[in-house]
Amino acid sequence: MNNRTLAIIKPDAVSKNYIGQIVKMINDGGFKILRMKMVCMSKKSAEGFYEIHKERPFFVELIEFMTSGPCVPIPLEKENAVEDYRKLIGATNPAEAEEGTIRKLYAESLSKNAVHGSDSDENAVKEIAHFFSRDELLNNK
Ligand code: CMP
Repeated sequence: MNNRTLAIIKPDAVSKNYIGQIVKMINDGGFKILRMKMVCMSKKSAEGFYEIHKERPFFVELIEFMTSGPCVPIPLEKENAVEDYRKLIGATNPAEAEEGTIRKLYAESLSKNAVHGSDSDENAVKEIAHFFSRDELLNNK
């Protein structure tokens, strides 16, 4: 069964012009790109998206970074989407990411780590809804 995950190309990767390379890796990985947009997240939007991390010591840094420039949220579909996309991007900390993964190739640090990926099917649904309406996810809209 196909399921979905949310990729975000983060501000560090956007500002370094890595959008094309990262989208190519997503395509080559067999994911269907359902939609794509470039957005500047407001503080409120970023705080809502990362609410589960609000008690963490890095929360302020995370929000400042995610609002520092445009990012590119991309809902993806594939069998086993969440797990397969997490394999494609590699560990959260690029220093620990496997060779050939998106973060190994394009991330510079734990906080500026180039891309986001949902960690469960349940969170993927919520995260996609944060950026895309039901209408936007229909083929003919
Ligand atoms: P992401 O997959 O977007 O989910 C939460 C983000 O918080 C994570 O990627 C990292 O960019 C960031 N993060 C996690 N741990 C730390 C940390 N110790 N210091 C700074 N940022 C972190």
